[in-house]
Amino acid sequence: MGFYQDHIVPSLISLAMRNRVLQPYRQRLAAQAEGRVLEIGVGSGLNLPFYSPRVAEVLGLDPQAKLLRMAGRQLSSVPLTLVGGSAESIPLGDACFDTVVTTWTLCTIPKVVCALGEMRRVLKPGGKLLFVEHGLAPEESVQRWQHRLNPLWRRFTGGCNLDRPLAMLIREAEFEITHLETGYMQGPRMMTFMYEGCARKG
Ligand SMILES: C[S@@+](CC[C@H](N)C(=O)[O-])C[C@H]1O[C@@H](n2cnc3c(N)ncnc32)[C@H](O)[C@@H]1O
Repeated sequence: MGFYQDHIVPSLISLAMRNRVLQPYRQRLAAQAEGRVLEIGVGSGLNLPFYSPRVAEVLGLDPQAKLLRMAGRQLSSVPLTLVGGSAESIPLGDACFDTVVTTWTLCTIPKVVCALGEMRRVLKPGGKLLFVEHGLAPEESVQRWQHRLNPLWRRFTGGCNLDRPLAMLIREAEFEITHLETGYMQGPRMMTFMYEGCARKG
């Protein structure tokens, strides 16, 4: 299990996330980031090339050492610091970031409610959470399959969940969602219902 978790899973994640279909989402999201940015679950660093000069620095957090090494090799025009750690216990002080970014990560974090609380804690008042995530679809017929397949899916994808109600979870963490677009990306409906948006810490 150790070798699978530490080597095979990170390699599979990195390969899957290189999908070119995801690139426009990355570009749109990174373009809205500004100031001091914390990227949660930075993975192999695929958003890093898209940050604009309005970003002063990026701190990338991820529990997977192998992915952090890959992120360190990405081209980035902004100062970058990579930190090993988990979103449920962010090893950083309160209210010190202007932007928190998550892309296809809230699906995987085991204690996602706790992690969203931590993201809120490290954001400055008025700071924004930018997110692109896949999650629970609106149609009951798709939801049924998402719930059914989830246990098996999680086992083979390093803990990814198909059926998290992302917008609801973000609101429950006391963020105000200021912009939200939802819809299917190309591919099987169970895995491709996207939530893309911005939420503010009040
Ligand atoms: C599907 S990958 C997405 C990676 C990257 N955000 C991207 O868009 O390419 C999910 C990421 O979440 C990270 N992750 C898993 N559990 C986490 C946790 N508890 N805290 C922070 N990141 C976590 C994984 O290591 C992985 O890098």
